[in-house]
Formats: sequence, structure tokens, C-alpha cells
Amino acid sequence: MTETNSDSKWNSLEAEFRAQRLPDADVAASRFPVIPNVNPASEEDHAAAMEELAFGVRFGDYMAVADWSVEDGWHDRRVVPFGPLQLSPAAAVLHYSQEIFEGLKAFRWADGSIWTFRPGFNAARLNHSARRMAMPEIPLDDFIGSLVQMVRMDERWVPGVPNSSLYLRPFMIADEEFVGVRPAHHYKYVAIASPVGPYFKGGMSGVSIWVSTDFNRAAPGGTGDAKTGGNYASSLLPQRLAAEKGFEQVCYLDAETNTNLEELGGMNVFVVKKDGSVLTPRLTGTLLEGGTRSAIIQLLADRGIEVDQATIPLAWLVKAIEGGEVVEMFACGTAAIVTPIARLAGDGFDVTLDGDEVTGQILEELGGIQRGTIPDRHGWMYQLV
Ligand code: COI
Repeated sequence: MTETNSDSKWNSLEAEFRAQRLPDADVAASRFPVIPNVNPASEEDHAAAMEELAFGVRFGDYMAVADWSVEDGWHDRRVVPFGPLQLSPAAAVLHYSQEIFEGLKAFRWADGSIWTFRPGFNAARLNHSARRMAMPEIPLDDFIGSLVQMVRMDERWVPGVPNSSLYLRPFMIADEEFVGVRPAHHYKYVAIASPVGPYFKGGMSGVSIWVSTDFNRAAPGGTGDAKTGGNYASSLLPQRLAAEKGFEQVCYLDAETNTNLEELGGMNVFVVKKDGSVLTPRLTGTLLEGGTRSAIIQLLADRGIEVDQATIPLAWLVKAIEGGEVVEMFACGTAAIVTPIARLAGDGFDVTLDGDEVTGQILEELGGIQRGTIPDRHGWMYQLV
């Protein structure tokens, strides 16, 4: 059934991440001088936002910014009041979508300290995306420094209630005023922060997934393994059509054969068999290599479960769920963390899954590491404050 390639050339980010040494937080932060916000959110406004914690609707008082030009490289690093960017209507990003982004979270621990999870992985992936989109790479120290300094200034926006965090969204855009088609000569890097609760309102009750055979997310040679806005833009129509049918997320199949599982619109996916073995779609260059995905592969390996990174045919999966061979599925990502999949449907099938034993164990362990209640034996956590 499966064709395993866990050591293929596509598993590159994890290796890059493991080879890194992260900078000292104070030294990295000092690269981003602060311009104080003289008009921050009022106490009442802040309290209301921290009460709501809806995903991605409220933002902190600060943002980190840096500019890049052909002549000067990266320059003018700063942390400034959160606010609108000044952009020419001719900025290249508005026409040709030369844009990349990342997602991380800052967690408040019981002792008041604030930590983030594997930021070096996100740095490696941002630069991987930059190479694919013909954009400049950003030095690790700048990436980390921007996040440390912003979170230090936005400390009051890091929630402390269970299942909450400050979601960090670093991104880079081509802001050169030019509408010819070529890589831009000027870019802006920005990081913003949003206090959030769970991505899915239903939490552990499970999400419903529509498997699309009408749309593909990415094709071989395309941008599927880059975190670029276009991949998400193209997922919006399938997402809307699925929502009209009552589903929360769309699962995509490979564009070559339209038969094998790839990933959800913004999350990786895992399959748990009755015998305790676990599968996840292998990286083929059309999937995004997730930092949560590779952490889960490691946590399962620690439990003696070697995840089979495999080709997973939809037809096999549906039969295996119906026949009881597959008992759990879950989605994972920075925003989703680990979320059980309760229903999988598409043209001609509609199956339900009610198991969540492995899913629950992994969520508990990963969540515990991120919140400082379970020892961080792999050195994944990085202290911001
Ligand atoms: C993330 O998990 O950080 C993402 O970028 C995915 C998106 C669905 C929010």
C-alpha cells in the first residue's frame, strides 16, 4: 500500500533546523531598536481582546520591521507601533503575490516566563520559501531578534489561560514600486502578533473534512512546499464550497493522480491504525513540511512508534476506516496544534472516526512541552521573556 521515503531529499528543513545554533535572546533583540507606541490599546480594549481570544482578529501594540534592497541588503531593523504599512499601489506583491510567511506561538508559563517552540525550524522554512519565491533570505539572528523584541514589547498580550497563546506571524513582501514581472529589488519583512485561543472552536470533539477531487492544492514543480500566500488563496474557494456542505476543512489529493492524500488547506494530517502504527503523507515537494509534523514524528519515535511517511491512497484509507483498520486521524500545525478528525467525506463516501487515544496522548505531550509542564527533552523551547 505504501511507498516510504522518510529519508528523501524533501526532508530537508528538519536537518537544517537540527544543525542550527540559536542566538542569545538579548543579543538578538538588540538588533531591533524600539520606537515606543505612545497610543497603545487602552486597558479596557486590551481586557476585551484577551477575553475574546478569537483567532487572528486582534493584534498587539507593536510590530517588527526590516527592509531589504539590492544595494544595502537588510537594513533599518526596528520594532514600531502596530499600524498600517505604507505601500505603493504598484508594489510588486499586490500584482504577482511575491510573499511568504510563517506561524509560531509564544506561550506564557506558570512562572510568568514566555517561550516559543522551535523558532529555528520556522526560520529555516521561511528561508526555504524565500529561495522558492526568488526573495532574499533573512539571517537567523534577525528572524529571532524580531520576535524576541516584539514579544518583549507586547508582553501584556501573551494570554495565560489554558489553550491560549500569542500567535506570531512573520512575513515578507515584495514592496518595490514596479509592475514588470521579475523578482523585486526591494522587500519588507514584518512580524505581527495576535492573542489567540483554539483555532477550531470544537477542540477535541473533532473536525469534519471534505476531501476534494475537484481542486488540487499544489502540483509537482509548483510552490506547494513553500509557505506562500498563493497556496492559501487558491484554497479559499474549495474551503467555501466545503463549508456550504457543512465541513470545516478541505483535504487535498496529489495533482498527478488525484488519488493520494496530501494535506489540509493549512495543516498536515496523520492516520492511526488499530495496531498502533501511524502514517502521514510522505513529503514529495508538493506538501508543506510542518514543524509540528516533524515534532510529532519525533514524539512518536520516542514511544517506539516509527511513523510511516507514506503514499496514502484515499481509496485504501476509506476502506480501512470502514473496516476498522484505521481508528484515528488528526490534523496538526502551529495554529491547530493537534486536532482530531471526526468525519471524512468526499464524492461517494462519508465515514466517521471516534478514536482519539493516540491523538490525545500526543496533544497532551506536545502541549505540556510547549507550556513547560513536561520536560523539553529535545531542546525545542526558546525563552523570549
Ligand atoms: C499555522 O498553523 O501557523 C498556519 O499558518 C496555518 C493557518 C491555517 C493559520
